[in-house]
Amino acid sequence: MSETSPTVSILDAVGQKQLTQSERFEKVRTLVHPNSTSACTALAAEVADLIRARTQENLDTVLGLATGSTPVPFYRELIRLHREEGLSFRRVITFNLDEYYGLSRDHPESYLRFMRDQLFDHVDLDPSRTHIPDGTVSPDDVYHHCLDYERRIADAGGIDLQILGIGRTGHIGFNEPGSPIDSPTRMIVLDRVTRQDAAADFMGIANVPRSAITMGVGTILAAKRLVLMAWGAGKAEIVREAVEGPISDIVSASFLQTHSNATFLLDAEAASGLTRFRQPWRTGQIAWDATMQKRATVWLSRTLEKPILKLLADDYAENGIGGILTGELNAAEKANEDTFQLLQSAVNGDVIQASGQGNTTEIKKILIFSPDPLDGIVGMGATLARLIAQGHDVHLAIQTSGNLRVTDSAARGFSETTKGLTALDAASDSSSAMADYANEILRDLDEKGEFGTDSPSVRALKSQILRADTNQAIRILGLEPSRIHFIDASFYENGRYRRFRFDEADLVPVRELLDQISPDLIFITGDANDPSSPQRIAFRIFAEVWQTTLDSHSTVWLFPGSGKPYGAQESDLSVPVSPDQLKQKADAIQRFRSVGADETADTITARDRRVATEYDTLGLAEYEAMETFRRWTPLSAADHQ
Ligand code: PGA
Repeated sequence: MSETSPTVSILDAVGQKQLTQSERFEKVRTLVHPNSTSACTALAAEVADLIRARTQENLDTVLGLATGSTPVPFYRELIRLHREEGLSFRRVITFNLDEYYGLSRDHPESYLRFMRDQLFDHVDLDPSRTHIPDGTVSPDDVYHHCLDYERRIADAGGIDLQILGIGRTGHIGFNEPGSPIDSPTRMIVLDRVTRQDAAADFMGIANVPRSAITMGVGTILAAKRLVLMAWGAGKAEIVREAVEGPISDIVSASFLQTHSNATFLLDAEAASGLTRFRQPWRTGQIAWDATMQKRATVWLSRTLEKPILKLLADDYAENGIGGILTGELNAAEKANEDTFQLLQSAVNGDVIQASGQGNTTEIKKILIFSPDPLDGIVGMGATLARLIAQGHDVHLAIQTSGNLRVTDSAARGFSETTKGLTALDAASDSSSAMADYANEILRDLDEKGEFGTDSPSVRALKSQILRADTNQAIRILGLEPSRIHFIDASFYENGRYRRFRFDEADLVPVRELLDQISPDLIFITGDANDPSSPQRIAFRIFAEVWQTTLDSHSTVWLFPGSGKPYGAQESDLSVPVSPDQLKQKADAIQRFRSVGADETADTITARDRRVATEYDTLGLAEYEAMETFRRWTPLSAADHQ
């Protein structure tokens, strides 16, 4: 792509201006920050400079804005600049990318409400200069409304800087796969994946609108500058496709490669799929240490579909990793064996020994943090059962109640059963109190209406239902319910999806639990999730507490959430799972009826089997399934923002 850009960007000063050797697979400028906070600070500084420079020249600044969880930290920083550094938005005009079709304008999930909550109400923007497509216009008026939206953008002089997120379908705005490069603002049917990703916001996929009005790809590409932000490991794959893949309407974001001033702004996790991080040996000279050698050799073995011990010197040389070989006669054999041994030693059913804490005959105190009730079992249910069977002192801390995920039908079912029971003994006082309670829940559910917000009583009931599921699941794994610590973090109880924020109050119970148990081993997840997800916030709470209570005797292991497990090349510990243990884990997951976990059990079983297959293909022993872990070394708290 062309590296000349019409406007000088402050982001260039932060990252590299020219594509370096290591970025040669990237077809669009890509800047990687350690975390979303630092990325958003840089972007907000660029926007502030743009606004100030144009205001000084007596010009308006036209900003294209985005919704979703991605831009939230960016808007927070703009608000801070307004409050603390006098940044004024009086000369700013805004155009939002899109709006759901068919939601009332004050629906909590409408993008108008979102923008008011996240930005408009907190800065000195003139409301008459903010524009969002209107999702309430009648079907007959949509066409003209869209034309009018385009005209307004043109009348404002075009968009100076357009902010973008990226959906898992690769959409920008709501330009789902199949959107042409020159598409204008229009009505679009939402992709199934997009609706699934929005399901949590709407308390169930059935409530997610089916269509939306969106600026087109053509509208977006007409902006003078584009910045696409993405955070979290969940975006890594689609970011790689958009940045390194072909330009194609299958991934709308790939069209940014055709723009002369577009930047992908990523945190480390969202960037992790790029070749320069995933396979750095393909992008330039690197220093070969044992970890890098392991990663490259696993890659080679997979690429050639050859077990590690059968790799030849020529295989290394012809695939650009000959540098691993020392030049000695049996260098390839030695390299193969080194990697094989490393992989082999990571496969270990004795977690205590792998933690460097003696061996499994010594009873250890173990604390497993589960952001929501399901995460711990999904990520490491079989290992948990193994640790319990070995007689260790295992505790499970459920960090959030998870009640937002409980289906209405579970709450309804409980209330109807309760009513049925009370009818058996209708005359007693306790029966009538219980019947009143059940009726109140049923009424609240009926009255929830289009906003889908549960009343406090319904949320409390849903928490209890999920606790009962958790207790049952955990019994299957052999743990007594008395070993479960329900933290019910307040950030979760007081929030909605994408709008969770934690404060000091959330640190207290985690600190107390660590003090109380003083664990030898800790297991936790969420470090690579989207920064606005409950999992990542629960992780940050732990990380902050950890910074202040640094207890050097504990070993901390990360386990993967419901997404991708750690591959053989990155796993520090892979615990074998037998067929019976896998079945036991699936049974435990299926207990979570109230969140509809049947499908989860199948997906996770298949996932755990695939890990074992990977080891098998590399030429190691063939197990039924595996659970994978990585050692956590605490970084500064700032890296977890
Ligand atoms: P997200 O959505 O910011 O909530 O991840 C991005 C998008 O769908 O564009």
